[in-house]
Amino acid sequence: MIITIDGTSGSGKSTVAALIAKKFGYEKLDSGALYRSMAHKILIEGADPADPEAVQKVLDGVKLHVENEPRGARYIVDGQDVTDQIRSPEVSQVASKVAGYPFVRALVLNMQRHYPYKKGLVAEGRDMGSVVFPGATRKLFLSAKPEERAKRRYQELIERSVDGAATVSFDEVLNGIVERDRRDEERENCPLVRPEGAIEIDTTNLSIEEVCVRMENAIAKPKRKKFWGYILGERFSEINFVYGFCYVLTKGIYKLFYRSEIYGRENLVPGKGIVAVNHVSFLDPPLMGSSIPDEVYAMAIDYLFKFPPFAWLLRKLHSIPVSGNASDRASLKRTLDVLSKDKKLLIFPEGERRKCGTLGPLKGGVAMLASLAKADVYPTYLYGTYQAFPPGKKFPKFWGKVYVVFGKPLKWADYEHLSAKEARVKLLEDLAVALRDLEQNLFKQKNISPN
Ligand code: DC
Repeated sequence: MIITIDGTSGSGKSTVAALIAKKFGYEKLDSGALYRSMAHKILIEGADPADPEAVQKVLDGVKLHVENEPRGARYIVDGQDVTDQIRSPEVSQVASKVAGYPFVRALVLNMQRHYPYKKGLVAEGRDMGSVVFPGATRKLFLSAKPEERAKRRYQELIERSVDGAATVSFDEVLNGIVERDRRDEERENCPLVRPEGAIEIDTTNLSIEEVCVRMENAIAKPKRKKFWGYILGERFSEINFVYGFCYVLTKGIYKLFYRSEIYGRENLVPGKGIVAVNHVSFLDPPLMGSSIPDEVYAMAIDYLFKFPPFAWLLRKLHSIPVSGNASDRASLKRTLDVLSKDKKLLIFPEGERRKCGTLGPLKGGVAMLASLAKADVYPTYLYGTYQAFPPGKKFPKFWGKVYVVFGKPLKWADYEHLSAKEARVKLLEDLAVALRDLEQNLFKQKNISPN
């Protein structure tokens, strides 16, 4: 269960996030603290925050470690505990400035998506529900008038100071907040927005307790985690019984008969994405369906849906009927719907099974879908199904060895600055290169050859 709480700084999100996390026994992710930790590093290294190259140099290879202690999280940057320094006004200003740099956002995004949690996570920040965890179970958005937020921040500074006096005036705090709001809202890269589907709470005239009650009411009736959510984990909490059953069964079969080995699962982050994999055998779709650590949708040719019981099963297994006709708008819409709901889509970009078992040229469909849905593409390479059941054979061998390797995602954001056509061409080229690299690495590591 992931709960996102977004809002401007000083809207109270940090305090209520801590209370909510405590109440539900969840971990809390304070994303602002991660940006602040990076900002502190920049300050102590003496880099100019206005100089992106200098900032990038300082942050290259930076190591952040978060220690969740009962008294609160401790932030350790390159071995140094910076928790007590990251709330200063200087750090605030630098954090706000450098948070606009795409490489800083990418660095912190990675830290956020890999943030460890057990039962659940309360993720607090400005883009938690919109960018970092778009598939979150509950999304909340807190707002408050700037004067009220300045009052709270000023109070906080007094409480944190050694002698009970703030080193800055109230007006300075207020101006700082107004200035940061403007920068956070206006910045091109990931501005502060209310995430789609988020419940908004204006905290201006509410006490912390009142905000918490409203939030608990908003979270109160979380969708009941279904059976498979307990067995297979959070990412499977929404799946139907048949899907879960087939997932477990297929996974077992591939493990037992084909001694499946899966690599790079950690590259698949929650949320929408296109898993683009090479295709050599009828064994590929079930192998992929049971290897992806997330519920996944895939296209299936529509004549398979002619026989009603089979159509029922295919639908339960998240198959989307496509007509094979390139101008089939209804199939395209169904496919885009899947991505717009933050789900994963499995695609065989070569279009059909390769009769010779080797990688083939890629069709344009994958790039078109990625651009229309603004989705990241995961290059994925599978091996061994061709040896077990190549095209043309009537029956598979019931033993063998299969591998699946998930590569690092090709992020759509990295192509957005190009024209639509250039972006698609470049994405397709990069995908072909990535697949080839995954293949070569696997061959080298496992000492195997194409067929
Ligand atoms: O919430 P905070 O004041 O601790 O955040 C410090 C800065 O980090 C803020 O000015 C903007 C940036 N930030 C961000 O860009 N995205 C987030 N999710 C959290 C913080």
